[in-house]
Amino acid sequence: VTDPVSSQLAPRTVVLCGFMGTGKTTVGPMVAERLGYPFLDADDVIAQQQGIPVPAIFARHGEAAFRAAEREVCRRLADEQAVVAVGGGAVADPADRAALARRATLVCLDADEHTLATRLADSTDRPLATDGGWREIRDARRSSYEAIALRVDTAGRDPGDVAAAVLAALDDPVAAARRHPVAAPDGEYGVLTGPGLLGVAARLLREHDIPEGRTVVVTDAGVSALYGRALLEDLDAGGRDAVLVAVPSGEAAKSLSVLEGVYDALSSHGVDRAGVVVGLGGGSVGDVAGFAAATYLRGVAYVGMPTTLLAMVDAAVGGKTGVNLPRGKNLVGSFTSPRLVLADVATLATLPAEEWRAGLAEVVKHALIGDPGLLDLLEADPPRDMPATDPGALEAVAALVARAAAVKIAAVTEDFRERGRREQLNLGHTFAHGFEHASGWSVRHGDAVAVGLVAACRAGEAVGACSPELTARVEALLQTLGLPGRLDLDADAVLAAMAQDKKRRDGLLRLVVPERPGSVVVVPAPGAAALRRVLDSVLGRG
Ligand SMILES: NC(=O)c1ccc[n+]([C@@H]2O[C@H](COP(=O)([O-])OP(=O)(O)OC[C@H]3O[C@@H](n4cnc5c(N)ncnc54)[C@H](O)[C@@H]3O)[C@@H](O)[C@H]2O)c1
Ligand SMILES: [Zn+2]
Repeated sequence: VTDPVSSQLAPRTVVLCGFMGTGKTTVGPMVAERLGYPFLDADDVIAQQQGIPVPAIFARHGEAAFRAAEREVCRRLADEQAVVAVGGGAVADPADRAALARRATLVCLDADEHTLATRLADSTDRPLATDGGWREIRDARRSSYEAIALRVDTAGRDPGDVAAAVLAALDDPVAAARRHPVAAPDGEYGVLTGPGLLGVAARLLREHDIPEGRTVVVTDAGVSALYGRALLEDLDAGGRDAVLVAVPSGEAAKSLSVLEGVYDALSSHGVDRAGVVVGLGGGSVGDVAGFAAATYLRGVAYVGMPTTLLAMVDAAVGGKTGVNLPRGKNLVGSFTSPRLVLADVATLATLPAEEWRAGLAEVVKHALIGDPGLLDLLEADPPRDMPATDPGALEAVAALVARAAAVKIAAVTEDFRERGRREQLNLGHTFAHGFEHASGWSVRHGDAVAVGLVAACRAGEAVGACSPELTARVEALLQTLGLPGRLDLDADAVLAAMAQDKKRRDGLLRLVVPERPGSVVVVPAPGAAALRRVLDSVLGRG
């Protein structure tokens, strides 16, 4: 028998949930065995932790105390590679369900009332099953169970059949997604990365407890033609009243007049406080859509659906939103987190090659900042071209995207409002902004970042933080990835632009420089002559 889930695509953690009597603890070990994972029963873990059986915890401390313990244990177990069975009440509250869904693949086992009645008739160890009172409990939980994207009917099936059905359900794109919870001051949100997520968006929105109100999908003309209709159809089939509004492609989307058009679309579609804005596209779309959501009616839910590599690893996570003013980029904006981010890596297959490379520059940046293993991976198997659409290639891209995004997530989790650690994300960017500015914005951001990374390494050498070997390594990798190592720009113009950099503090230019793979330091820029030498080494025809 071939497994429906190839081991490569197997989810890290599978949480079996559902009402009592659906067979979670019988089926769980079978599923675990097939996946090669350990099986854990949340109730057993709680009982062991408290030193008394679950019914005694209920009797002695009450249901609320049990739920609190359960909540904590569930969150912890969802971080392990395992099959976990949780109690029927663990996902009764939509917020608890969403918290688990941010960490693990949920599979809900269900059965009709008659089947449950038969199975529960002779149970003695279930504190809530007495006297048929379970029917009311089940009714109260029904809508939360039904919101789970993967559900398996157990009625009339023996445990072996149910286990097979669970494994088959894991063949869904919902199960293949890598899940990363992001803690932010305005609430925790989930970042899901994997192929095919746009096709299951409506189910994921429900599972993650996104409001069910009127929905406006903001996208750009190019992305709309490729993915807009299918997304809208999926949302529509999922019972959402959604419309599409197209903004100009690229940086032109980030203007006050475009923003006004988005507000207009929101009000004409009747979006209220229960409404949702979806940003489907690259960082430009996400920045304007996120800001519209952050400000319309003083804030409605925002869901990011990034479709560029740059947006998946950078712009869509971290909660910065905003638009440009004629005098400069990102001058109006907010720190507002999305409620959910769905990064469908299958969309990257249509990305123009230069946009793919632009994203790769940020991936290298993130590897240098916080993931030496990612640097090794990029060198061992350089993803120079966009992904092919076969599952193996998409899985590799999903892994790359999730790892690169994780570095940004770690930085913004520690420092949401950019007062410290988040500054590390500027690696290469003080130089890059100088290059972009001096070129009159004719140099592509990704190219500017690539050369900026090399310049940052050289500046690191000048202050004794970075070794020539690391610089050479970075240069070689960027070249392999098809990114430039130098730009034909005037060093004086770049210096002048850098002097105006808004990241200057107390008249001092600060630079982020690598000290070793996966680690950077913030240092005062080297003196004018040294900085000039750094620029001379990366500018000109070479
Ligand atoms: N908020 C943040 O934290 C943050 C971080 C980094 C960058 N940004 C912003 O992001 C913007 C750049 O974003 P970007 O690089 O994603 O570019 P982009 O959004 O401007 O998109 C680039 C082009 O790619 C096209 N495109 C997008 N997805 C596609 C797909 N799957 N297939 C085919 N074509 C596709 C778009 O139509 C557009 O023409 C900048 O404005 C930058 O300031 C924001
Ligand atoms: Zn950048």
